[in-house]
Amino acid sequence: MGGGKVSYKAEQCVSHWPSHGGQPAALLKRFGLPDAHPIEDFSANLNPLGPPEWVANALTASIASLAHYPAPDYREAREAIAAYHGVTPEQVLLTNGGAEAIFLVAARYAGKRAAIVTPGFGEYARACRAHRLPITYIALSAPTFELDLDALMASLKDISVLFLCRPNNPTATLIPLSTMQALLARTAAIGCDVVVDEAFVDMTVEEGERASLTPLLADHPHLLLLRSMTKFYTLPGLRVGYVLAPSVAIQTLAVHQPPWSVNQMAAALVAPLLRDAAFAEQTRSWLNQQHPLMAASLLTKGLDVVTSTTNFFLARPNNTLRERGLTSNVLFERLLRNGILVRHTHNFAGLDGDWVRIALRGATANQRLLKVLNDCLC
Ligand SMILES: Cc1ncc(COP(=O)(O)O)c(C=O)c1O
Repeated sequence: MGGGKVSYKAEQCVSHWPSHGGQPAALLKRFGLPDAHPIEDFSANLNPLGPPEWVANALTASIASLAHYPAPDYREAREAIAAYHGVTPEQVLLTNGGAEAIFLVAARYAGKRAAIVTPGFGEYARACRAHRLPITYIALSAPTFELDLDALMASLKDISVLFLCRPNNPTATLIPLSTMQALLARTAAIGCDVVVDEAFVDMTVEEGERASLTPLLADHPHLLLLRSMTKFYTLPGLRVGYVLAPSVAIQTLAVHQPPWSVNQMAAALVAPLLRDAAFAEQTRSWLNQQHPLMAASLLTKGLDVVTSTTNFFLARPNNTLRERGLTSNVLFERLLRNGILVRHTHNFAGLDGDWVRIALRGATANQRLLKVLNDCLC
């Protein structure tokens, strides 16, 4: 890892590259392909098994509830989340997706300095800029993207809040628990709060929810965990997430949240989603079966693949292929023309388009991806 400031091209880049995954229309247009061009979408990191089947009926049945305001404190949803994680409801703030949680955290530190580990999810920087936090970027280096704790700490002088993602989007790497424990001890000593985005933690291979830092909350009052119900339950349109933190921190975040930020139908789904142990079990078994197969297969295709701990892979053509002109940009376009959409990395700081991110999908789709990759990499 090279500590300290890095040049940051994210966002200004790339008006012609959409800033998030799952936007095929913009990319088809960019490459002159018709709207009807068939696409298998590997660009959004969503659980391919979801949403759970009962969700559609539950939403239909709850339409009448739209005639009422949601309970302003979302007590029922917060109690369900608290019971699920073994914390108190006062340690939970329900949010309009993980994205709102990020912006509320940035608002809490307005006027102070933030550090962001990169490459990382672009919304941390956008939220910090929106709330006028000067940002120090802390760059992880290819090809392993491992965190060097000493270099990180050297960059945290005068920093009030550090943002990182675990497992990290887009690298799919997981900072080891022992490193996180050391990081939390050292940041406590210098008065720097730590925000860990756990949007993908439920889909950590082997460990699942056990990879969460929730058990560390009790001993680390400067730790805030951001959660999203989007990825695991395949509900990007629903907009539900939450923050887990000490109750004092939750109160100061809530000050910045508009009233009724989460709609009634979404809030009512929280408890039944968390109760759905069968869906969680199916997801774990899909992940633990498909992930090792995909990891091994990608390596045989002539790709550099970052060691992945979750439901996506960061990859690029290896040196030999790149020297022959087969860059990630070329691969991206070939895949798209063959009906496979992966995530470009033009707006991830430090990647700048050199890699592509590939989501793990169901067995049939994964097989098709591997076949098309074969054709595109020769
Ligand atoms: C790391 C990370 N955090 C948070 C989010 C936002 O999640 P949500 O859809 O719940 O707002 C995303 C979405 O892509 C993400 O990748």
